[in-house]
Formats: sequence, structure tokens, C-alpha cells
Amino acid sequence: MTDKIRVMLSEEQIQERTRELAEQISKDFEGKSIHLICILKGSIFFSCDLAKRLTIPVTIDFMSVSSYGGETVSSGRVRILKDLDESIQGKNVLIIEDIIDSGRTLSYLVDFLGSRAPESLTICTLLDKPDRRVTDVDVQYVGFEIPDEFVVGYGLDYDQKYRNLPYVGVIEG
Ligand code: IMP
Ligand code: MG
Repeated sequence: MTDKIRVMLSEEQIQERTRELAEQISKDFEGKSIHLICILKGSIFFSCDLAKRLTIPVTIDFMSVSSYGGETVSSGRVRILKDLDESIQGKNVLIIEDIIDSGRTLSYLVDFLGSRAPESLTICTLLDKPDRRVTDVDVQYVGFEIPDEFVVGYGLDYDQKYRNLPYVGVIEG
């Protein structure tokens, strides 16, 4: 049986906003190069689309962290499943996330990566659920602020499913 999904953000809306963010980031980092850190697995689609639209020199690395099991509620624990391949020392690092919920994952990552002496450390997230924040994080680039609903698609999963949807939506059962 397939679940019914209500579209919250269409493919077109996401692409349009990604173009705007890429333009803004390219402008803000003009004359510099940027080192993207794609947080697996949720931000793969967003990272690819954003990276393709950046007009400044780009390098990309990947990191995998886990904060949830098969649950929809954060356990509050963050584990590094895959660390970066390359050093970030002296680089302009842009962390790319799918969604900021409690903020625990990102605030952990900011401390963890900040201790490796990057030139700068900036965050870009596709989605932000501000109502759910328990930890303060300074996020420079936000695609969309969304209400407190559990969303799937465009990288986001429920129990590893639905990541491949080209839009962001809510499971309606
Ligand atoms: P935080 O540490 O509570 O901010 O959680 C961030 C992580 O939880 C994200 O990177 C997602 O993997 C996951 N997450 C939070 N909200 C959702 C959601 O609505 N749908 C799917 N995954 C979510
Ligand atoms: Mg994630």
C-alpha cells in the first residue's frame, strides 16, 4: 500500500528558492572559494541542486550523522557515522542541511567542525521548523520556514522511505 502525501512545497518552488539561495551565496562569497559539506543522507538532493547553481569555485565533502532512529522524535543524541575525507582548515565551509528541527544536530556539528579551524563556518538549510528549536543555532541561509509537521521528500525520509520524491510533503496515511 502506498501512503497519500500532501504536497507542502512543490518541485518548482524548491528549484526557484534554490536558485535564489545560490545567487545570494555566490554574491556573499564573491572572490572566494567555498567548501560544501553535504550532511548525508537528507541533504543530498538539495546539495546537488544548490552546488550546480553556485558560480564561485566549489569543493564538496560528505559527512553522515545520526540523531534519529526510525523515530519521528529526536533522541537528542548525535553520532558521527562518517567523518569528512578532507581537512577543513583555512577553508570557507558551508554546511548544507535538509532541515533544522530541535537544532541539536547542527549545534553539535558547529562545535565539532568549528574546532578544526576553518576560515569560516556557515550554515544553509533547505527547511527550518523554528517552533521546535531547543538549541540556539545561527543559520545564515534558510530555504523555507515550515510549520511543525513531519515532512518527507527531496531527501527527507520517514524510516528511510520517500527520499526520492521531487517535492516536500506530509504523509496523510
Ligand atoms: P534536529 O537535531 O532535531 O535539528 O534534527 C535534525 C535532523 O532530524 C534532520 O537532519 C532530519 O534528518 C531529521 N528530521 C527533523 N525533522 C524532520 C522531518 O520533518 N522529516 C524528516 N526528517 C526530519
Ligand atoms: Mg538529516
